[in-house]
Amino acid sequence: MKTLLIKGGRVIDPSRNRDAQADLLIADGHIKKVQKDIKPPSEAEVIEASGLVVFPGLIDMHVHLRDPGQEYKEDIFSGARAAAAGGYTALAAMGNTEPVADDPSIIRYVKGRAEGAAVKVYPIGALSKQLEGKEMAEIGRMKKFGAVAFSDDGKPVANGTLMRNALQYSVGIDALIIAHEEDPFLSAGGMMHEGSVSSILGLRGIPAAAEETMLARDLLLLKMSGGRLHIAHVSTAGSVEMLRRAKAEGLQVTAEVTPHHLLLTDRAVKNTGYHTHTKVNPPLRSEEDRQALWEGLLDGTIDAIASDHAPHHPDDKDVEYDFAPFGISGLQTSLPLMLDQLSSGRVKGLSLSLLAEKMSTAPARILGVEGGTLEAGNPADITIIDPEKSCTVNPEKWYSKSRNTPFAGLQLKGAPVYTLVNGRVVMKEGVVVEEREHVG
Ligand code: DOR
Ligand code: ZN
Repeated sequence: MKTLLIKGGRVIDPSRNRDAQADLLIADGHIKKVQKDIKPPSEAEVIEASGLVVFPGLIDMHVHLRDPGQEYKEDIFSGARAAAAGGYTALAAMGNTEPVADDPSIIRYVKGRAEGAAVKVYPIGALSKQLEGKEMAEIGRMKKFGAVAFSDDGKPVANGTLMRNALQYSVGIDALIIAHEEDPFLSAGGMMHEGSVSSILGLRGIPAAAEETMLARDLLLLKMSGGRLHIAHVSTAGSVEMLRRAKAEGLQVTAEVTPHHLLLTDRAVKNTGYHTHTKVNPPLRSEEDRQALWEGLLDGTIDAIASDHAPHHPDDKDVEYDFAPFGISGLQTSLPLMLDQLSSGRVKGLSLSLLAEKMSTAPARILGVEGGTLEAGNPADITIIDPEKSCTVNPEKWYSKSRNTPFAGLQLKGAPVYTLVNGRVVMKEGVVVEEREHVG
């Protein structure tokens, strides 16, 4: 395996509190040394990184790969290529596949296929059998087979007793539970955020309370049962406030937010003439909610940024608003969108090290997986960024099979230029150049 020297970049590593110019020496797939002015060993290939930023590889902790079962929307390989192109070195794949990942055999299938994929793929098992919310899935056995967390994401766990039992059970095996907070009765038939815009448009709304009542329930259950609970795609100001208080009380709760909830509001539904690319669950909320999400992200209430990459086939989305499936494709836009926010200066307090923390170090910590650090001795999972590079969001050129983004056509400043997984370059200048050995 090649020896690589990444030379002269601005190295940002939240795990070491590092933000300084340095070189990185990579050999045998691992980071060997991070230091100023490393002399290139004769056999080393040099990546010239002056003017570029070196991050620990980004980890997207919330991705839908649709594999097995809906490979016409995405599959493990296309999703992993999209991730590599988007600057991610690893992702966690949700279990709402067909069949549902509620059994060790599906976890094994995902892990086996992923051996040949461009980035690391960590399966998330379903929390309930068939995602039906009735009977707990075989969490313990799935964990043994490599599931990194358990969730019915895509659907809430409406039955409080089931959530309570899952949390109680998770304590003994130290499993992470990820909650999609939604009261299905309050959200029933809803298509967008319930507010003045939904009234004007005459579309049925999903109230903020649909999320907040379930979050309140789960925080109470967490307090009773113990365990580690991660809240997926937080979307409302009320949720942020509840999480802030829960953390102050010392509850073991973490949370993520998506770029689309940070950047868009329910007005996007109106302004795009109800384009189905704005249809997502939880829905794009109000401006007040959006501001609160940023505050939560900046003050540490929200730990991570995750894409909730929800690929759909263009034909599925090309229907009336009512009939379109929920979801936004995010793997190839999340990092450029966040870098663009940073360069625009619109958000006070946003920094490169905050982005590295929220998109790499925190997801690694929450999921309990390798990565999130550039400390010597770790696998060389690295994302190199050009903060000055302009790019236009062009879904026609994506590696993902999906095209469903409300950000198409946007001109953004800041893009990943290299993705390295285990010391191999898997993406260079936007082109996915290498996949790992295909096994199985
Ligand atoms: O918009 C969404 N799409 N939200 C979810 O919770 C599920 C996801 C999907 O699987 O398409
Ligand atoms: Zn999801």
